[in-house]
Amino acid sequence: MNILSIETSCDETAIAILKCSGGLRKPSFEILANEVSSQIKIHRPFGGVVPNLAKREHIKNLPKIYQKIKKEVIGLEKKIDLIAVTVGPGLEPALWTGINFAENLAKELKKPLIGVNHMEGHLYGFLLSQKTENPNDKLQITKKMFPVIGLVVSGGHTIILKMQSLTKWEKLGETVDDAAGEAFDKVARILSLQYPGGPEIEKLAKQGNPKAITFPRPMLNQHNYDFSFSGLKTSVLYYVRDHLPTNAPKWKADLSTVALAKADIAASFQQAAIDVLTKKTMRAAEEFSARSVILCGGVACNKTLRETIKKESERRGLDFFAPEMKFNTDNAAMIGAAAYIHSLAKKRVYKIEADSNLNL
Ligand code: KG4
Ligand code: ZN
Repeated sequence: MNILSIETSCDETAIAILKCSGGLRKPSFEILANEVSSQIKIHRPFGGVVPNLAKREHIKNLPKIYQKIKKEVIGLEKKIDLIAVTVGPGLEPALWTGINFAENLAKELKKPLIGVNHMEGHLYGFLLSQKTENPNDKLQITKKMFPVIGLVVSGGHTIILKMQSLTKWEKLGETVDDAAGEAFDKVARILSLQYPGGPEIEKLAKQGNPKAITFPRPMLNQHNYDFSFSGLKTSVLYYVRDHLPTNAPKWKADLSTVALAKADIAASFQQAAIDVLTKKTMRAAEEFSARSVILCGGVACNKTLRETIKKESERRGLDFFAPEMKFNTDNAAMIGAAAYIHSLAKKRVYKIEADSNLNL
C-alpha cells in the first residue's frame, strides 16, 4: 500500500510517500519521498511560531513540495492508494492548510483520505527506523515487546503512556502546564538563545556543569505520571535575574564568566528536566512490568535525554526504541506510518477537520 501523507500542524510543511507492507506484526516502510520545508528562519525573529505566518508559508510551500515529489517518484499519482493528513493537535490555521490541500488532492486523484493524529505520528515514528541499534534489523512486533511505556516529548506535549499492543494504549499522565520542549524554548529565550531553544540549550549545556545549580525537579516525588515544567522555567528566570550581571551589578563579571554561567544554567536546567522525565518513565516501567520503552517527539533529539533513558531502560533489561533523529521532529513520514497502522487497525476514525486540541 502506498500512502501520501501531509503534515502542517506547526512550522514544518511536509509531504512523504511511503510504500507500506508487513501488516501489524511486521510493519515495514520504504520511504519513496520525504520532504520537509522548515520555516524556522521566518519565525525566529519572533522567538516562536506565528500561526498566520505559518499558514501563509504552508499555502506557498505545499504545491511546491508536491511538484518536487512528483518529479522524484515517477508515476506518483497512479501509485497512491491512500492520502493521509494531520488533523490535530496543532495550530488551527496551519492544520487547515494541509487539510484543504489534502481534500483537493483526494478529489482530483479520486483517492480515499484519512485524518491522522499528530501525536500518533510521533509514537509510530520508531517504526520508520526499525530497531535503533541496528537499522538493518527488521523490527518484529511480538507480544514480548509489550507492555511498552511510551514517553512523548514535543514542543506542545509531554505524555507518558502504557501500550498493551501497537494499537492499544492508555495515557498514564501528562504535563499540567508547559510541555518539555516549550520549557527548553522558554529557558533558551531567558538565556537570549535563538528559537527553537532545545538544540541551543543542548549545545550550550555541553560546556556547562549539570550539577552547578540545583534547580527543582517538579512533581518528581508525587506518585502520579504527570509533569510540570513551568515552575522549573520560573526558577531559571529567578536565577538569571539574581545572578547574571546585567541585573545584578555585584557580579562584576567579564564576558567569559557570563558565558560560563549561562552554560552552567543550561546544563543544570537540562539535567533537572531529564531527571524528571527519566525517573517517571522508569517508575512507570517498573510499576507496569514493561518490557520496552519508546521515546519520541522533538525533545527526543536531545542526546543526553536519549542516552539516559536508553541506559536506564537497558539497566532494567528493557528494550529501548526511539525514532531516528530526523523522524523525531515534525515530518510527514511519521504521519504515513501512523496512517498505515490506523488503516490496518481500523480503530478510531478522525474527522477531516482541524482540531487543535486533539487528544491522544
Ligand atoms: O515534535 P516537535 O518537532 O514539534 C511539536 O510537535 O511540538 O518538537 C519541537 C520541540 C521544540 O520545543 C524544540 O525546542 C524541541 O522539540 N527540541 C529539542 C531538541 N531538538 C528539538 N529539545 C531539546 N533538545 C533538543 N536537541
Ligand atoms: Zn510534533
